[in-house]
Amino acid sequence: MFQKALLLPAALLVIILLQGPADICRAADTGPKNMELKSPSGKRTARFPHRKHQELYQCRECHHGSKDGKITPYRENMQVKKCVACHNENEMENPRFNSFKLAAHGLCKVCHKKMKQTAPTKCSGCHIK
Ligand code: HEC
Ligand code: HEC
Ligand code: HEC
Ligand code: HEC
Repeated sequence: MFQKALLLPAALLVIILLQGPADICRAADTGPKNMELKSPSGKRTARFPHRKHQELYQCRECHHGSKDGKITPYRENMQVKKCVACHNENEMENPRFNSFKLAAHGLCKVCHKKMKQTAPTKCSGCHIK
């Protein structure tokens, strides 16, 4: 009898322990540590140390949403979409940013030029192939 009475609370505790950390992960999904970025055509890949950049910059420096064709700033716990979900010829009217390449160069290269003492600016600094 004593053991049965303990069984339910114990089972609940196990469930809480198993779910707790998963919820924390979901609440602060910071994405992969390192990435190899690729356009749909896949001609070149770019290496991207995501975590290293997260240590230097706020999420909103790179991530945004959109409304009526305009950027909406990144909010805490926003679902982060792939750039190409919006930056493609069908969704984006602005021809300066209507592909992953243009969006990525617009973000990465522009900042790297400003930070050229430390950040790579040559093609081979980002493109491994
Ligand atoms: C210097 C720019 C930069 C910063 C700062 C940054 N990210 Fe990212 N993040 C990216 C890029 C680029 C990708 C790849 C997007 C793609 O594949 O289209 C990405 C991918 C992600 C993904 C995976 C999305 C997917 O579906 O594959 C998540 C989640 C994410 N970032 C969350 C965050 C959070 C949270 C922060 C702040 C703590 C942050 N990022 C800071 C540039 C950045
Ligand atoms: C939910 C849709 C959406 C996603 C996802 C998205 N963007 Fe954008 N982005 C936009 C819109 C809308 C604009 C404004 C375009 C304009 O001004 O005509 C924009 C503008 C930009 C600009 C222009 C610079 C500026 O500040 O005006 C850059 C660069 C850019 N995005 C890069 C990225 C990168 C890199 C990613 C992925 C990490 C990304 N975007 C993800 C919708 C999105
Ligand atoms: C807001 C500024 C900013 C943006 C946006 C940014 N970077 Fe950087 N990046 C830096 C700085 C600063 C460094 C140098 C960090 C250091 O080593 O101190 C760097 C370093 C790097 C390095 C070299 C890291 C190493 O360990 O050798 C790569 C590769 C890189 N960035 C790729 C990218 C790519 C790809 C993007 C776009 C998806 C991007 N970065 C967007 C600022 C930026
Ligand atoms: C700061 C990082 C960075 C630098 C420097 C950079 N790129 Fe990129 N480039 C990217 C990212 C990120 C993408 C999107 C992912 C991909 O397709 O590799 C991209 C995409 C491309 C693509 C599209 C590939 C495809 O499959 O459609 C080409 C072509 C390209 N870059 C050429 C260049 C050339 C040429 C240079 C030098 C003049 C250069 N890039 C410098 C980050 C960079």
